[in-house]
Amino acid sequence: MLRQMSTTRIFATGAGALFLVFFIFQYMTPHAFSSTWSTSATRIGDPSSVFNATLGFQKIYVIDLPKRFDHRDGLSLAASMTGLQLEFVDGVSGLEKNYLPADYAKTDLDDGALFCWRAHINVARLMVEQNIASALVLEGDQDWDIRIKEQMYLYSEAARQYLSQPEDKPRRHLDFAPNTTPGASDAPYGAIEDWDMHWIGHCGQDFPPEDSDIPSSRVVIQNDDTVPESQHIDFGFGRHDLIEEYANHTRVVSHAKGGICMGAYALSLPGARNWLWRLGIESLFSAIDVMAQGFCDGWGGRPINKCLTVVPALFSSHRPAGNASAHSDIGHHQGYVDKAYTKNVRYSTRLNLGQLVEGNTDYVDSYKDQTPI
Ligand SMILES: *[C@@H]1O[C@H](CO)[C@@H](O)[C@H](O)[C@H]1NC(C)=O
Ligand SMILES: *[C@@H]1O[C@H](CO)[C@@H](O)[C@H](O)[C@H]1NC(C)=O
Ligand SMILES: *[C@@H]1O[C@H](CO)[C@@H](O)[C@H](O)[C@H]1NC(C)=O
Repeated sequence: MLRQMSTTRIFATGAGALFLVFFIFQYMTPHAFSSTWSTSATRIGDPSSVFNATLGFQKIYVIDLPKRFDHRDGLSLAASMTGLQLEFVDGVSGLEKNYLPADYAKTDLDDGALFCWRAHINVARLMVEQNIASALVLEGDQDWDIRIKEQMYLYSEAARQYLSQPEDKPRRHLDFAPNTTPGASDAPYGAIEDWDMHWIGHCGQDFPPEDSDIPSSRVVIQNDDTVPESQHIDFGFGRHDLIEEYANHTRVVSHAKGGICMGAYALSLPGARNWLWRLGIESLFSAIDVMAQGFCDGWGGRPINKCLTVVPALFSSHRPAGNASAHSDIGHHQGYVDKAYTKNVRYSTRLNLGQLVEGNTDYVDSYKDQTPI
């Protein structure tokens, strides 16, 4: 399995490509699929800690209702097969409306949306209470590519490159150049003071336009063969700028703009405090993802906070075959799914559980290239 994976390398352009490939071969693969938690010898904050069981964050939390045994079965096995360590945090299935922020009364949020809001705020509060430096937060239906550690390593390098640039206008398109950025923080995703949120699983983000107050720099990762060709990409509620402006197999890291859905995001400790204040205490004006969008984009008289994102997303909802009403305990999904799928994820861990458990390397590629690179 390890050998097989090293042939599906991720190539990056730019000066760091050789280093990166070397790095992948030398260090990455042994960690990437270890099904036991490797006690990593890396320093705290070392960029290579992205390969540890919590992807270089202090924790990976999963928000899920205790009754979703189906989610936990799938997620626990997926995590075990890709070398991740998850901590489940119970979702919320009831609350007392008298104790909500006062402006809640002006919204028309239903119980599902309120419980969801509360569950996400509970995680931010958990981080604040326990002084957790950084955590990745997943919703219970999430899926990822079996190459998630390599992908997160590229993302972390791109994020650190982005953060090492001045927050500037006009916009700048930076070719991805791993490890060549002087002064870039040693912390895997940038020093925690430098970011609030990495919004890496969503169902729509836009590139910030040049004329907005949101920083509009981008880091452009080309020739990433884990990105599906354009005909397979589902942009959800986001704009299609990626495929209008860039070649196939491009992934772009930028400031968040217009983000929607909270499938997967990381918070720094300062970010969690900021969230608890802005989204938990100060106001409850909309569903949690719309509030997170306001937090990142700085609308409604709020400041622009430091949120990075990536298109296409690295985490995505897995939809098992069967009655679509099982897809969410928040929204109301209708219909029947004949064939399980995960949008935008080529080697879906959930769709390859059988292969992974049996040690069969004949992985399902859900979005095969017409013109492979
Ligand atoms: C992974 O690395 C991060 C950052 O260095 C650290 O906080 C975390 O404890 C590590 N996780 C594991 C499971 O070793
Ligand atoms: C991606 O590749 C497919 C198949 O070769 C092609 O039809 C499509 O136009 C390409 N998209 C872009 C954005 O180049
Ligand atoms: C799907 O589940 C919902 C809610 O339990 C139920 O009302 C509906 O009849 C089911 N649909 C099918 C096709 O089984």
